Amino acid sequence: MLPAPSLDFKHVSLCLFCPLLGVLPASAPVFPFPPSPTDCVEAHRVCSADLRCEALYRGLERCADQAEVSLLGEQAAAECLERQDALLNKHPALLACKCQRGFRKEEQCLRVYWRVRLLPGEDELEMSPYDDTMMDTRMASLVAASSYMQLDGENQCLKAAQDCGLYEKCGSLRSEYVLACTKRAPGTNRCNQHKCHRALRRFLERVPEEYSLGVLFCPCTNTLCGERRRKTIVPSCSYQEMEGLQPNCLHQQSFCRRDDLCRSRLADFLNNCQPSSVTVSGCLKDSAGLCLRAYAGLIGTIMTPNYISNGSADVSLWCNCEGSGNQWQDCLRLQRMFTHNSCLRECTRLHLSMIFNTTHNNKITNKL
Ligand SMILES: *[C@@H]1O[C@H](CO)[C@@H](O)[C@H](O)[C@H]1NC(C)=O
Ligand SMILES: *[C@@H]1O[C@H](CO)[C@@H](O)[C@H](O)[C@H]1NC(C)=O
Repeated sequence: MLPAPSLDFKHVSLCLFCPLLGVLPASAPVFPFPPSPTDCVEAHRVCSADLRCEALYRGLERCADQAEVSLLGEQAAAECLERQDALLNKHPALLACKCQRGFRKEEQCLRVYWRVRLLPGEDELEMSPYDDTMMDTRMASLVAASSYMQLDGENQCLKAAQDCGLYEKCGSLRSEYVLACTKRAPGTNRCNQHKCHRALRRFLERVPEEYSLGVLFCPCTNTLCGERRRKTIVPSCSYQEMEGLQPNCLHQQSFCRRDDLCRSRLADFLNNCQPSSVTVSGCLKDSAGLCLRAYAGLIGTIMTPNYISNGSADVSLWCNCEGSGNQWQDCLRLQRMFTHNSCLRECTRLHLSMIFNTTHNNKITNKL
C-alpha cells in the first residue's frame, strides 16, 4: 500500500488506490484475474455423481436441519464434524466453493454453501459466500472514467432517477418494486413487505450497477435531494415495520440467520464493509466497490438498511438494542456496523460524490 497522501488529495486518491476502483482507462484491458472458485451448485453436482460423497452430503444436511431446531448434543456434533471431515477430504472443492449474487441458482448455491459449514454464528464474520474474484469490469471502468467529475448543485438523486427511467430495464423494474411496495395487501391497510422485498431484490440484481447504485448512493447537498434518496427504497414498506415499533437488532439478526439468502447477504456485508484504520479507503478489504455492493445486497432482506433522515448520508437498520440484556455489547457492535462504520461512511459519502456522472454513465452503458 502506498503511503497516505496529503489531505488535499484524499478524495481523489481514495479512488486511485482502491484495487477495484482504481483501474485507469489506459490499463483497463489488463485484468489478471485469479482463478474463480468453483460454483457450489457445480461442486455439489460433481459430488452427487459419487454415491459415498452424496451420502455424506445428505448426512450433513440432516445435521444442519437438526442444528436449526436445537443445539446439537455432544455426540451428534462429533458425528457431524466427522462427516464433514470425511466429505471435505474427498471433495475439498465443496468447502472452497462460492456463489454469484443474483444468479438464477443463487439460493440453491447458498444452500450447498451453508450445509457444508456447521460453524456457529461468529465465524460468518470471516467469510462471504459470494465470489468477488471476477471484478465487475463495468463498475471498474465506470468509476475510473468518472473519477475526475465534479459535484455541482444539481439534485443528483433526481438525475439518477431520471436516468433510470430512460433506460427501459431500470425504469420497468423500478416501477415494479414501487408498485409492489405501495400496493395494499387485500383486506388490510398495509403493504405486503415480503413482495416488496422480493421486487427490490430483483431490481438490484438485474439492473446494471451504474443505475441501481446510482439511485441508492446519489450525492446530496440539500434536503430535497436527501428526501428523494431516503425514499428510494419505499422505506414505509421495505424498511419500517408496519406497527412502527423497532425490533431488537440481535433478534432480527437471528431471524436473518435462519434464511440462507439473508444470512449470506449479512455475512457479505460484515466481511466487505469491515472498517480498518490502516487502509486508505477505511475498509479492511480496501475496496469501496465491494462494500457498496454488499450494502445494496442487504436491501430486500429483513436486515434492510436505509438513510435515517433527509439531512445526511447516515444510515441505520430499523432496530435498536433495547432489551438485549447481557448481549448488549454484541447488539451495539452490530448496530454500529451501520451507524458508526468508517468504511461504509467513506464509501457512501466520498466516493459516490465523484463516481456517478450520469451523462457519462449512459455513454459507457451504450458502449457495452
Ligand atoms: C459528466 O461527464 C460529461 C462527459 O465527460 C461532462 O461533459 C460533464 O460535464 C460531466 N458532468 C459533471 C456534473 O461533471
Ligand atoms: C426532511 O425531513 C423533515 C423531518 O422528517 C421534514 O419535516 C421535511 O419536510 C423534509 N424535507 C423535505 C424537503 O422533504
